[in-house]
Amino acid sequence: GDVFTYDPGFTSTAACESSITYIDGDAGELLHRGYPIEQLAEHSHHLEVCYLLLYGELPNAAQLADFEFRVSRHTMVHEQMHYFFRGFRRDSHPMATMVGVVGAMSAFYHDSLDINDPWQREVAAIRMIAKLPTIAAMAYKYSVGQPFNYPQNHLDYAGNFLHMCFAVPAEPYVVNPVLAKALDRIMMLHADHEQNASTSTVRLAGSSGANPFACIAAGIACLWGPAHGGANQACLEMLREIGTVDRIPEYIAKAKDKDDPFRLMGFGHRVYKNFDPRAKVMKESADEVLGLLGIENNPTLQVAKELERIALEDEYFVSKKLYPNVDFYSGIILDAMGFPTSMFTPIFALSRTVGWISQWKEMIGDPTQKIGRPRQLYTGEKRRDYTDVRHR
Ligand code: CMC
Repeated sequence: GDVFTYDPGFTSTAACESSITYIDGDAGELLHRGYPIEQLAEHSHHLEVCYLLLYGELPNAAQLADFEFRVSRHTMVHEQMHYFFRGFRRDSHPMATMVGVVGAMSAFYHDSLDINDPWQREVAAIRMIAKLPTIAAMAYKYSVGQPFNYPQNHLDYAGNFLHMCFAVPAEPYVVNPVLAKALDRIMMLHADHEQNASTSTVRLAGSSGANPFACIAAGIACLWGPAHGGANQACLEMLREIGTVDRIPEYIAKAKDKDDPFRLMGFGHRVYKNFDPRAKVMKESADEVLGLLGIENNPTLQVAKELERIALEDEYFVSKKLYPNVDFYSGIILDAMGFPTSMFTPIFALSRTVGWISQWKEMIGDPTQKIGRPRQLYTGEKRRDYTDVRHR
């Protein structure tokens, strides 16, 4: 039969050409459309990065204003979707709710399902960027038994999300600009990351011609796993479980033990073998936010810093080139903002949505792309004859 290259985990297979994001894992470099993530994190904001990823260039002032207006026009979800939420158990994980609700968007937005129509593709992209924060916030509100908040378009993207999550009808809510800025930076740091597992899932789903809402729902499902986007929740829970600095060696030993499946969450990366540039920015941001909130003695942050220090001096982590990744410090900031750990991965999902949809758009427009259809190395039985049940 045919001979195939065996590449489990696709460690050496390029499945597409892409001009969106570049990573140099050895240099710890991440570029979006050529712009270094450190510069974007310092000077830009999430919606501007969304524009950059989607259209390839930074917008001028008029283009940015137009884009922000178009996104703001789509922040509300169909009123009927409220009933869809109510079908879930209150104790559902918000990611479970999001997989369902985002998939169900294809039942609501019939005028953005035709993938062959560029205008419909454009509207689908804008809808997704606009509505994912609304959907994530609704999943949260539903889980805590509070009424949904409608989006407030006078607020910026991150401020609106904070409002939808934390405002209650009983009292006024004022968005803290420091927190909104920090959240916006977290969104930027997650916006895209070339062909990671969830993005590859979106592309594979899309390669069959499935509609964009179905594809993004598939990406959300993939992101949920603890090896991927679920790591931010798992990491903060691990830091809390460690609790105090004196217990760190015990967990380091567990992570090194071959017979123990435990891994240091928020550590290691398939591509980065020197450092994760996102983690560097995130660490600075954590210091800044906790400082401004006057909680820099937060025990979780102390444990995280000491864990990082000890691991980076340990032969095991050094030789395997394991460094803190983007998920290591993000949870500390989100926790300080008041988000429960179950919301960490939904925030990753709404931030990555622009990356998913940009990659999906690029694929649809690429004439060399065909349906994704990996082959296998068959290890099962050779051909044999059926026997009647009485003779088995
Ligand atoms: N703790 C302890 N050992 C580890 C860790 C860790 N976090 N990560 C990798 N290793 C070891 C692993 O046991 C293996 O050892 P050996 O070669 O002796 O078998 C070696 O390092 C290479 O690991 P791998 O699993 O073959 O590497 P990978 O590229 O397939 O996996 C990873 C990358 C991110 C899934 C993995 O490092 C991991 O599970 N990390 C913890 C989860 C995590 O933080 N994920 C977030 C990733 S970044 C953002 C995102 O995608 O959400």
